[in-house]
Amino acid sequence: MKMYQIQQLRPKESQILKMKAKGDQKVKPKSKKQWSLDDFEIGRPLGKGKFGNVYLAREKESKFILALKVLFKTQLEKAGVEHQLRREVEIQSHLRHPNILRLYGYFHDATRVYLILEHAPRGEVYKELKKLTKFDEQRTATYMTELADALLYCHSKRVIHRDIKPENLLLGSNGELKIADFGWSVHAPSSRRSTLCGTLDYLPPEMIEGRTHDEKVDLWSLGVLCYEFLVGKPPFEAETYQETYRAISRVDYRFPPFVTEGARDLISKLLKHDPKHRLPLDDVLKHPWVTSNSIKSPKHKIVEATVANKTQS
Ligand SMILES: Nc1ncnc2c1ncn2[C@@H]1O[C@H](COP(=O)(O)OP(=O)(O)O)[C@@H](O)[C@H]1O
Ligand SMILES: [Mg+2]
Repeated sequence: MKMYQIQQLRPKESQILKMKAKGDQKVKPKSKKQWSLDDFEIGRPLGKGKFGNVYLAREKESKFILALKVLFKTQLEKAGVEHQLRREVEIQSHLRHPNILRLYGYFHDATRVYLILEHAPRGEVYKELKKLTKFDEQRTATYMTELADALLYCHSKRVIHRDIKPENLLLGSNGELKIADFGWSVHAPSSRRSTLCGTLDYLPPEMIEGRTHDEKVDLWSLGVLCYEFLVGKPPFEAETYQETYRAISRVDYRFPPFVTEGARDLISKLLKHDPKHRLPLDDVLKHPWVTSNSIKSPKHKIVEATVANKTQS
């Protein structure tokens, strides 16, 4: 049943990609059908985005369940982010990893742009964190494994996410973590001084200070996230923007007594002011606190093991 659904979805998906490859969306293949709102039944809202809402949806023909992210063109234009949206689509549609939310395609009408996304049935990690106040070491380490594995894949393609925070991490049907919202992602290195809207909490010193940055910004965010999962709030949280700014640029944070030595070791190796000194992702995956607490092992390690077994025999 599932196979059938996926096959149903693929032809159009590849059409979209083919058209994008041609680099000109105005030239439509005449005989081929494009996605339109008519192809979907719209269900309940899943969440609120900056430029519109995300809805549960079902593709009529295949009954394939997905998420439809709706963005209003007027709002995109007002904020001047059309270029950013194009990059989000371009980047996310080419990534294939179990811990990265799939983007199957997009379409638009007179007033809106629609992104066709994989549905993450268990919602935001943020909501889970609010519900449980904080996560235990097992859960945190498992998320760290999944995140580091997915980021390793992104970075191998020189894609940096730059917006790793609990609201942008969704959960699949088996509770597996899915990185979503590539709205701020870029190809490294970048010196883009985009207007920093929203919270500074997850941003590294080099980004808040507007310096050139690279993949290592995501290592910092991984450290912030690991802290927040275990403690229940991010390390540089403060009353004002200015205070958070100062705390980040001085790497000024404290651990509550219950944070264990192993977790402190990992977090402090990620929260380094100098990007070059941050613990690389493969070392995050091998970190003793991570390996002893995580209930999952990274995908790339399994591949390595398979290759090793083959060469042995
Ligand atoms: N594929 C999805 N499955 C389930 N919920 C989703 C999905 N995509 C988005 N959401 C929900 O909608 C919210 C906004 O989506 P997001 O892509 O982060 O928008 P924005 O780029 O405006 O921040 C998310 O925080 C999440 O709660
Ligand atoms: Mg978001």
